[in-house]
Amino acid sequence: MSTAVRFHDQHVDETGLSFRDDVIAGLGRSPKALSPKYFYDERGSLLFESICRQPEYYLTRTEEGILAEAAEEIAALVGPESLLVELGSGASRKVRLLLEAMRPSRYLGVDISRDFLLQSTRRLAADYPWLEVHAAWADFSERLRLPSGVEGRRVVAFFPGSSIGNFAPAEAEAFLAGLRRALPPGSGVLIGVDLVKDIDILESAYNDAAGVTAAFNLNLLERMRYELGASVEPGNFRHRAFFNEAASRIEMHLVSECRQTLVLDDHRFEFEPGETLHTENSCKYSRDGFQALTRRAGYRPSAVWSDAEGLFSVHYLSTD
Ligand code: AVJ
Repeated sequence: MSTAVRFHDQHVDETGLSFRDDVIAGLGRSPKALSPKYFYDERGSLLFESICRQPEYYLTRTEEGILAEAAEEIAALVGPESLLVELGSGASRKVRLLLEAMRPSRYLGVDISRDFLLQSTRRLAADYPWLEVHAAWADFSERLRLPSGVEGRRVVAFFPGSSIGNFAPAEAEAFLAGLRRALPPGSGVLIGVDLVKDIDILESAYNDAAGVTAAFNLNLLERMRYELGASVEPGNFRHRAFFNEAASRIEMHLVSECRQTLVLDDHRFEFEPGETLHTENSCKYSRDGFQALTRRAGYRPSAVWSDAEGLFSVHYLSTD
């Protein structure tokens, strides 16, 4: 097997047009809001990797512990020779915990950050010469399409990190139902889901002492400046993250510290002091609550693993 990565260009808009359109639409709304998918330019992807190493951010290390522990069981559920599709593959670190045990014949990494995707899939191909590695640069939150030539076999869709939490519960259900329709019969979904817990633990995870999450949030404004030519002063905004108990989600906002105007092309967006741009929701579930959601999406939840402290969960969902 060659160590080359087969690259499939899909439907991410390279011109940044959709970022521009979405910023204009989102800042024109009241309250102001923007999709968290725009966090992940190259700097944002690196900042996110750094968030994952912060002591307060328990999610990554806890999920990795669960996966390492459950790898053999997961492999037994899936069977060998599958196509392993990683959604939002990022640095492709977590999947390494599964590869040896699972022995899929093909791996497809799907990510919205092109350079990051290329680097990480190349490393994967070099480290696992027996694995056929594919990469698709795509926004799978819209619709997952398996590139031609890699479809039509038993698939395991791996969606780690509790990224599903970025969807509201009804959207998460619709997303999972759509994913199920994109998978051939006999497939499965392996998905990491953060659990509801003590508010202090939750809020600390999104307010790390080193300020990396704050930099990640504020990077959205930097990106508007250098990528869209917007006129905005990131220093006049501050990071805020808190747990909204009624909605069972962490909310992230950029809070305007003064009256100011963000200018983009011929659009002017006024901010009052204290007014926020809502940049992310990160929904938290109970184990049973998430299983019920997956049933409504058409799956059979066939296994769930958790850590001893009950911080995080990993679910295996069968498509039939
Ligand atoms: C990638 C969406 C799972 O919600 O915990 C981390 C993103 N935002 N810190 C999360 C994030 C702030 C992360 N997800």
